[in-house]
Amino acid sequence: MNEEYKIKYVKKSIPNYVEKNTVLNILTNDVTSFTHGFHKYPAKFIPQVPKWAINKCLNMSQRKLILDPFCGSGTTLVESMLAGHNTIGIDIDPLSSLISKVKTTPLNIKELLKISNWLIESIKKKKKGCFTPDCKTIEHWFTKDSINKLSVIRTLINQITERFGNKKFVKDIQEFLLICFSSIIRRVSNTDNESQKTYVSHTKLKKPEEVYTLFFSQLDYFIKRISYFSETVNSKVNSKVNSKVNSKVICADSSQSLYKSLNGKKIDLAITSPPYIKAIDYIYNQMAELFWIGDIFDLQTQSLQNSKKKAYIGTKHIHKVEFKDFTPYNTTFGINKLDNKLKKVYDTDKKYGHKHSYITYKYFTDMEKHFIEVAKCLSSGTPYIMVVGDSMVSNVSFDTSDFLIDIAKRNGFKIKHKWGYVIKNRYMRFDRKGRGGIIKIDWVLNFTRI
Ligand SMILES: C[S@@+](CC[C@H](N)C(=O)[O-])C[C@H]1O[C@@H](n2cnc3c(N)ncnc32)[C@H](O)[C@@H]1O
Repeated sequence: MNEEYKIKYVKKSIPNYVEKNTVLNILTNDVTSFTHGFHKYPAKFIPQVPKWAINKCLNMSQRKLILDPFCGSGTTLVESMLAGHNTIGIDIDPLSSLISKVKTTPLNIKELLKISNWLIESIKKKKKGCFTPDCKTIEHWFTKDSINKLSVIRTLINQITERFGNKKFVKDIQEFLLICFSSIIRRVSNTDNESQKTYVSHTKLKKPEEVYTLFFSQLDYFIKRISYFSETVNSKVNSKVNSKVNSKVICADSSQSLYKSLNGKKIDLAITSPPYIKAIDYIYNQMAELFWIGDIFDLQTQSLQNSKKKAYIGTKHIHKVEFKDFTPYNTTFGINKLDNKLKKVYDTDKKYGHKHSYITYKYFTDMEKHFIEVAKCLSSGTPYIMVVGDSMVSNVSFDTSDFLIDIAKRNGFKIKHKWGYVIKNRYMRFDRKGRGGIIKIDWVLNFTRI
C-alpha cells in the first residue's frame, strides 16, 4: 500500500479535500508562529495539520471543544484556541503538559513585564544560587559556569510567589518563566543539541552557549510571542457565550483514565498524534531539563526518571518478568496480518525477537485500550483525526496506520479517509540507525465515531 501513493506539492494551507492515498509535500517554513516555537519536543507535528482538521470538521462561527489525548507540546491546543475553540489536552508526560499549559495560557502582559524585569535585574546582581540539582554527575552534563548561572535563575524563579504573591496570574507567570528557563537547558549543556537522547559526544565536541545571554534573548522572544498570542485569543470573545476561549491540560494516561479525566465533557472533535512503536524515550530526551526542573514533577533523579518510563505507550522499558510467558503463538491479537508480523519478529530476530514482539504487541494492546476509552467520550458522528507513522521492528515493517484502522474499526469507529504527508523536520524523530523505525511519512487517519 505504501508504494502506491502519489505525491502532491502544497505551498499554502492543506486543501480541504485531499484525495485518498495522496501524500502531500507541504511547505513547512512556518512552524514556530505564535507560541509554537517555545520548546523543542520530539515528534511534534506541524501546526498545519490540526489547523486543517479544525477548518474541515468544525463550524467556525460557533465555539466548540477540541480534545488532543496525546497532546505532547500542545500544537493542537494552540491551533484550537487561535481558531476560537476551547480545548483539552491530555498527556502522560509532566514536562510536556507544562509546556502545553504555558503555550496556551494568555498572560497579563503588564504583570509579566514587571516580574520579568525584576528577574532580569536580580539575575544581574546575584552571584550564587542555592538550587542544586539532585545528580552526582552534574559536572559531566554541564560546565561549572553553566551550573552556577542556571542555579541563580532557578533560585530566583522559585522566589517569585514569595515576592509577588500566590495569586493565579503570578503562578501562571512563574510557570511561563520556568518553561522559558527549560527551553535553554540543552543549548547551555555539554550534551548534543539535536539528538533524541541526552548524551555528551566525545567525538563531536560542543561549546555550550552562555547562560545569561541566551536566557535574556529567549525571554525577550517568549514575551513577544505570548503577547501576540494573548492579544489574538483574547479577541476571540464569543458573543453568544460571552466568555474567553480557554484550554485545560491534564497529565494523565489516555489508555486508562481518559473517560474519567474528561468528566463527561462533550467533545466536538479529537485530533492527535499518538506515540510510535519503540521509537522515542521521552524521559531520556528530557534528562538535562529534568535535572533542573524535574523536582516540580518528582522526576529530579535518574532513578525516578527511569521508573516513569514504563508508563508511556510504545516504551521499550519493559522487564523480562513481564514478557517471560508471552509468545505471539500463545497470545494473539486477533488481526491476522499483525499476528503474523509479531511471529516474524519473534522467529527471525534471535537476540531481541522475544522482547520486541512483546513490546509491539503491548503497543497495539495499549492503543486498543485508548480507542475503547476515547469511544466512551465521543458521541456518534464525532470526527477523530489521528496522525501516525509506520515503523520497523527488528527489520520487520509494521503498517501501524493500517493496524490502527483495524483496531479502531472493532471499537466503534469507521475510517472515512487516509492520506499522508512527507515529514520534513526530522528533529528528534528517529532512533539512531533506524532501529526504532525510519518514519518518512505521517499518515492522517480520518475516523468518525459510529
Ligand atoms: C507524538 S507525541 C505528540 C506530539 C504532539 N502532537 C506535539 O505536536 O507536540 C506523543 C505523545 O504521547 C504521549 N504519551 C505516551 N503514552 C501516553 C499515555 N499512556 N497517555 C497519554 N499520553 C501518552 C507522550 O508523552 C507524547 O507526548
